[in-house]
Amino acid sequence: MPGNTFGKIFKITTWGESHGPGVGVVIDGCPPRIPLEAKDIQALLDRRRPGGSPASTTRREPDQAVIMSGVFEGRTTGTPILIMVHNKDASAKAYEPLADVFRPGHGDITYMAKYGIRDWRGGGRASARETVARVAAGAVAGILLEKEKVAVRAYTIELGGVQAAERRLEVIDQNMFYCPDDPAAQEMERRVRSVRRKGDSIGGVVEVLARGVPRGLGDPVFDKLDADLAGALMGIGAVKGVEIGSGFQAPRMLGSENNDQITPRGFLSNNAGGILAGISNGDDIVIRVAVKPIPSILIEQQTIDLKGNPRKISIRGRHDVAAIPRINVVCEAMVNLVLADHLLRQKAIQ
Ligand SMILES: Cc1cc2nc3c(=O)[nH]c(=O)nc-3n(C[C@H](O)[C@H](O)[C@H](O)COP(=O)(O)O)c2cc1C
Repeated sequence: MPGNTFGKIFKITTWGESHGPGVGVVIDGCPPRIPLEAKDIQALLDRRRPGGSPASTTRREPDQAVIMSGVFEGRTTGTPILIMVHNKDASAKAYEPLADVFRPGHGDITYMAKYGIRDWRGGGRASARETVARVAAGAVAGILLEKEKVAVRAYTIELGGVQAAERRLEVIDQNMFYCPDDPAAQEMERRVRSVRRKGDSIGGVVEVLARGVPRGLGDPVFDKLDADLAGALMGIGAVKGVEIGSGFQAPRMLGSENNDQITPRGFLSNNAGGILAGISNGDDIVIRVAVKPIPSILIEQQTIDLKGNPRKISIRGRHDVAAIPRINVVCEAMVNLVLADHLLRQKAIQ
């Protein structure tokens, strides 16, 4: 099945399904002699795991990363790195009643239309379980970026309509939603609990900030940095929109307001979100990601079965109420992967 490989020099291929034996990634093109241990990957996988917030599923996966190849005596060898994570808490039984119906908001209907067969156990390949592999690869990309003093962080600025009024990045690790506004995080928790009680779900907005990105990353014209970032983030399940810098506000601004004026000391504003003509301008890269409500809900909805007969569906089982906050580290991973790939591409032409 094509479409599972991402990147040009720092290239990843992910594999695995929600309720198969495991998920993982092959990274090809990682430079040699980079210090890498399973614990570097584990720290990020732990942030993706459920458990930290009432918004998350009760599925309990230890998500232990095993490096199967490409690392010798704690350093990358320049050969393919295979990282695998076993699925330990898969329970396909809960999905048996859903085997012959299409869940609204899921890829069941489109996978069936495309392949004529689908793995109905937890969404198979479309499941968020696949993001384990992206996070593992993103952790390795993050090590490359750290060497160049590039730091990427994602935080929640909106959940279920509750908006963060502040961007106090120093508090994002102090609340369960990685929100830069503590009082808003408390309000988000109340919102999540009330929606969970009603058997419904919510979405929100994640902001990703990349600091220290050097000027010159991104290629004209089809491989612009902003195009690659948008594609990478849109490729995450549940993501329905991506904006960079002033984004969807830009059409409502005057040119004189939206331009970032240039002085000998730098730009006076950052409406460009750190990217001009598809190439990084040295300023912070600022991206916002729109995340839809989780499609699996207890509330009864209409659907059809494989034969096209009308059915009613209410989804029980272990589901997130919101993809936030678990999606945040996935967003970081995808931005890491794009930036690391472009960094290596830039080094190749220099
Ligand atoms: C981190 C994360 C967690 C998710 N958790 C769930 C979940 O528990 N239940 C669910 O039905 N969908 C969940 N999703 C969303 C589905 O994977 C996604 O909506 C579905 O595959 C359809 O794809 P689309 O939303 O991109 O169209 C999650 C997505 C992410 C990124």
